[in-house]
Amino acid sequence: MYQYEQYRDIRIAWTDDLDGGGGSFGRSFVPVTRHLFGKTGRVFEFCAGPGFIGFYLLAEGLCDSVCFSDINPKAVEMLEHTIKLNGLESRVSVYLSDGLSDIPDSEKWDLVVSNPPHFFSESHEDHLNDLRRVDSQWHVHAEFYANIRRHLNIGASILFQENYLGSSENTFAEMLDRNNFVIVNSIMIDTQRHRDNNKFFMWIKERGDGLWWMLDDTRILPVAATDVARRNRISLPPGKYQIAFANDTDRLSGVFMTKAWDDKGAGRMEGPVQIRIAGIKPGTREKSSCVLLNPGLYFITDDRMTDSFATLDVQEK
Ligand SMILES: C[S@@+](CC[C@H](N)C(=O)[O-])C[C@H]1O[C@@H](n2cnc3c(N)ncnc32)[C@H](O)[C@@H]1O
Repeated sequence: MYQYEQYRDIRIAWTDDLDGGGGSFGRSFVPVTRHLFGKTGRVFEFCAGPGFIGFYLLAEGLCDSVCFSDINPKAVEMLEHTIKLNGLESRVSVYLSDGLSDIPDSEKWDLVVSNPPHFFSESHEDHLNDLRRVDSQWHVHAEFYANIRRHLNIGASILFQENYLGSSENTFAEMLDRNNFVIVNSIMIDTQRHRDNNKFFMWIKERGDGLWWMLDDTRILPVAATDVARRNRISLPPGKYQIAFANDTDRLSGVFMTKAWDDKGAGRMEGPVQIRIAGIKPGTREKSSCVLLNPGLYFITDDRMTDSFATLDVQEK
């Protein structure tokens, strides 16, 4: 009764009536995730259906483990079948859940991916009749953004694939803002496998999680000392700090480093650390209008470094 897709080492069960597009345009989660995050820890696929996206990321080695949920018992049964078939019980878990309501608080994720229902309807009947396509009054989205925070690890990201035929970034702006989330970037991709110009990715983060700012033309980042402390759980005395962004520590040798954190945001470290920044290739330094640094993946130098990208102006407030 199931059809199967063999994706690298994983054989994924699916059926026509439960496939929500993950097996086609959902494949673009692989390059986007690789580009933005590299390898990540635990991934959650919300509204998972057959779980294409999560299984692709796992098969590609882009995460350590995956958690799935869906409201449809048939989808959950199918996911359990794929897990058993591939012997993935120790790395993959599944919840039957309306939104996040039946997922235990102990579940924590580094990356949340989803290709949720893309179309608005006033009617709840429409939603029940077409769980794959219809989100009545954006209720599924609104509940998700209202409740997801308790499941997010420090520095976690949310990557939703939406559809311009049903929504735009503005559609979700108010519910994101209300719940203290921001769109870091909105991304379109046109893969050879599936030329589809309606889908877009929204890369979302909790406001104030990690260290990230939008750089203006002057490349000066005014920030309150209290904000630095809140975002990074460390304190920096007021003053000007040069910030270097790169991912090749060698090229920055000789730079006096004042602060560094490990990649769990925990133990402080001294000495050079490898820096990973979304979109910056190894061995290069690039300017970017948006810089996102998770805790532990950056450092701040003092002002002896001239070849830096930006000045962090820590102000007393
Ligand atoms: C567009 S499909 C995506 C399925 C799969 N990710 C894919 O790309 O093939 C949307 C999925 O959301 C699920 N869904 C709809 N409402 C839900 C809710 N309230 N809570 C959890 N899942 C829901 C549906 O059952 C369906 O599997």
